[in-house]
Amino acid sequence: MIRNTRSAYGYVTIYLHWTIAALIIGMLGFGLYMVTLPIFEPATYTLYQLHKSVGFVVLALVALRLLWKITGITPDLPDNTPRWERIAAYLGHVSLYALMLIMPLTGWLLVSTSPLGLPSVFFNLFEIPHLPVPEFLGQKAEMSEFFTEVHGWAAYAFIAVILVHVGAALKHYFIYKNKVLQRMLSLQD
Ligand code: HEM
Ligand code: HEM
Repeated sequence: MIRNTRSAYGYVTIYLHWTIAALIIGMLGFGLYMVTLPIFEPATYTLYQLHKSVGFVVLALVALRLLWKITGITPDLPDNTPRWERIAAYLGHVSLYALMLIMPLTGWLLVSTSPLGLPSVFFNLFEIPHLPVPEFLGQKAEMSEFFTEVHGWAAYAFIAVILVHVGAALKHYFIYKNKVLQRMLSLQD
């Protein structure tokens, strides 16, 4: 089963969910560690390039995931799910999708406006161009500072939302004893 049905997730959604989740959790830890390293060291530069390359992969996968979502259906929550929990799940998923886009886009914007003007080289293969940022928006250095702040704060917000999301998944498994966690782990009939 490739596509989702009214009651189950299909292969594509499941694989995209777990690949993106693993990459993002890794990138959050990696990013927080990376910024503690001495700047202007060649090894730090290499790690930043790796961070940016993986970030671009995440952006592409998230775009694919959103395309897959809007062209398909999303399984319903179990019938007995209370209204407040439906709203909480909806808001939680919207925040996760928003943060999945905000993280790589603010990363790309911060390097595009940085006065350092360093290139982003995708896995040492080819250069990814900087985003064009119109001059009327202000000084580049100030914009870069702004996007760096947003990139950093969004990372903490992301960690908080992921913790709530994992907590909710575990509540379904251990307390409600329904199939909500299993249906994101493997195909269900
Ligand atoms: C899934 C996507 C991404 C995640 C989860 C992520 C996560 C992080 C985190 C947690 C930090 C440390 C923030 C801090 O404490 O200051 C960071 C820093 C950074 N990220 Fe990302 N990032 C992502 C994508 C990108 C992309 C696509 C780029 C650039 C193309 C990028 C460029 C940077 C840079 C340059 C820094 C250092 C900023 C500084 O000097 O403080 N990131 N990232
Ligand atoms: C960076 C980490 C993660 C992100 C960004 C993320 C994102 C999402 C999003 C956006 C959805 C909604 C999918 C839809 O459109 O229907 C979802 C569903 C789900 N996630 Fe995650 N997730 C992450 C990590 C995890 C982890 C670690 C777990 C397990 C404990 C998990 C368990 C689930 C489950 C069970 C569902 C299905 C909910 C349902 O059936 O309605 N997720 N996730």
